[in-house]
Amino acid sequence: MARDLSQLQKQYNRAASMPMRRGPGGPGGPRRGPMEKGKLKNSKATIKRLLGYLNQYKLRIVLVLICMLTSTVTSLFGSYLLAPVINKLTFFVTQHETDMSAMERFADGIISSITGPINALVKSEVVTYIIATISIFAFIYAVGIITTYLQSRLMLSISQGAIEKIRNDLFNKLQKLPVRYFDSNPTGEIMSRFTNDIDTIDVMINNSLTSFISGTVTLIGTFIFMITTSWVLTLITIAFVPLFMKLAGVIAKFSSRYYSGQQAALGAVNGYTEETVTGQKVVKVFNHESTCVEEFTLLNNDMRDKQFKAQFWGGIMGPIMGNTSQVSFGVTVGIGGIMMVLGHLTPGALTVFSNYSRQFAMPINMLSSQMSTIFSALAGAERVFDVMDTEPETADPENAVTSKIKGEVVLNNVTFGYVPDKTVLKNISLYAHAGQKIAFVGSTGAGKTTVTNLLNRFYDINEGEILVDGIDVRNYKRDYLRENIAMVLQDTHLFTGTVKENIRYGRLDATDEEVIAAAKTASAHSFIMRLENGYDTVLESDGANLSQGQRQLLNIARAALSNAPILVLDEATSSVDTRTERHIEHGMDRLMKNRTTFVIAHRLSTVRNANAIMVLENGEIIERGNHEQLLELKGRYHELYTGKKELD
Ligand SMILES: Nc1ncnc2c1ncn2[C@@H]1O[C@H](COP(=O)(O)OP(=O)(O)OP(=O)(O)O)[C@@H](O)[C@H]1O
Ligand SMILES: [Mg+2]
Repeated sequence: MARDLSQLQKQYNRAASMPMRRGPGGPGGPRRGPMEKGKLKNSKATIKRLLGYLNQYKLRIVLVLICMLTSTVTSLFGSYLLAPVINKLTFFVTQHETDMSAMERFADGIISSITGPINALVKSEVVTYIIATISIFAFIYAVGIITTYLQSRLMLSISQGAIEKIRNDLFNKLQKLPVRYFDSNPTGEIMSRFTNDIDTIDVMINNSLTSFISGTVTLIGTFIFMITTSWVLTLITIAFVPLFMKLAGVIAKFSSRYYSGQQAALGAVNGYTEETVTGQKVVKVFNHESTCVEEFTLLNNDMRDKQFKAQFWGGIMGPIMGNTSQVSFGVTVGIGGIMMVLGHLTPGALTVFSNYSRQFAMPINMLSSQMSTIFSALAGAERVFDVMDTEPETADPENAVTSKIKGEVVLNNVTFGYVPDKTVLKNISLYAHAGQKIAFVGSTGAGKTTVTNLLNRFYDINEGEILVDGIDVRNYKRDYLRENIAMVLQDTHLFTGTVKENIRYGRLDATDEEVIAAAKTASAHSFIMRLENGYDTVLESDGANLSQGQRQLLNIARAALSNAPILVLDEATSSVDTRTERHIEHGMDRLMKNRTTFVIAHRLSTVRNANAIMVLENGEIIERGNHEQLLELKGRYHELYTGKKELD
């Protein structure tokens, strides 16, 4: 049975409603509700925070501003030159002198100032004037081209720098998040924040920010030139601005609500895709292809709807604003025409003013056409900052302990649950002398892995205490504690890279000889030597080119490389055949020598020689003792060992 849309949304966007995604009260705003609502929450704080990323580029931003100012002013002045040109040409045709304003005479003076040398060559007054005008226009546009080029180069370096920093911050934050976060957020959804969400911010900084700044500069510049041309017409044009603003505001408000929905839907689609791709074998085993397609279609349709709405409302802004500005243009030119007839305005002034009045609306239109980019980016930024605001692993206490660890481990009445109200471990107490081997046995889901996850503080306990060398684990510097606990996790993981690099992950400064020795301890050496390039064979996607047992051996070798006094082996050899396991035994004994070792194994032969064996059932230790004692007890262990009762 395929799941329905709301179920899928809930499952692939758990992110949006997890209780732990609580920001520490910083910017980023209140927690978001379920994604269907998906409104932008706190745009102001988000913008402020984004601007923070531009802070270090102050100098470059100032240069960008200078470039913009230069290109805007020259281009505005360029269009102003039309006024004296038109008046002059009218004069050449009608021989009727127009009464030019001071500003027009000034512009005319600039053109006339270079007519001298040209006149020496051309002789015709009209042609001279035209050549002079064209030369000045050419100069102005050359300045425009150069400054625009510089400005976009600078802007690119600013945006790429800022984006790099955001990406770094996000990745750094991910490294600090507790294991819990990854338990509850689909990988694809997290990936989506790295790719899509950051991309939207990139586009915004690059396009919209430039538009915003140049728009503002143009707006102010145009205003100044308008005022100098005709203050009456300027007033009329300005009168329309509140109307524009109101209209833009209404549309913006309407469309903003769809943008975070769009980004969240994208996250869900990515989460689903990632899961289906990584789980493709299982999908095929159970013939789930059609269900997958069905579910994907639901998510994809939902994304199309949300994108459609978001883009539609974002895109409609431009045309609406554009057409509204035509009204203002018409009214201005109409009144300007009357003024010209009455002799209050020269034909040249009317021409340039009508240009300006059109230009005046342009920045507003430009900005409104950027709305969809801006809203997508704000939604993306919110999702990125959301991760950044997630509470990291608790900070180390002041004076965190880093004294040498011998390896004595004590658990006193430890109680723990992954989620509130659901206790997984109840009152676990145990004592391990340095160098002892403690085994955990018990049925699936009994809580064996959980106990070891508490030692290195993947999770912090709710009650009781865990002491290493008599010091609470919470008082150690977390990194130091983990450095002192080598672990072979139940699920193996290998990184893209060579076999050697993967083993060296256990201790980065290990020499090649040490790596090989560790591989020998784990009985991995012989199969590695049979690989195409031996230790330099590149492993792909989690060691897909190895058998499960081989992957386990590499994971053991990795742990063997570390000199940690405490060692955890969680079903480390469960996929290795019994012959190889016996073969490893020797190496494993060497590995465990002088280390406090916690062994978890279903295969009881591997735990026989432990100093103490703990039988866990439903999160409680129900029996404890060594192999002989437990057999004598004729309890659960005896059942497990003699096979009277199969493990359930
Ligand atoms: N990340 C998690 N979030 C919530 N509950 C969890 C999580 N991991 C395990 N649990 C729950 O904790 C209980 C104990 O799990 P644990 O992994 O410790 O079992 P185990 O004894 O190691 O089993 P196995 O032999 O299958 O490895 C299980 O009932 C499981 O439902
Ligand atoms: Mg386990």
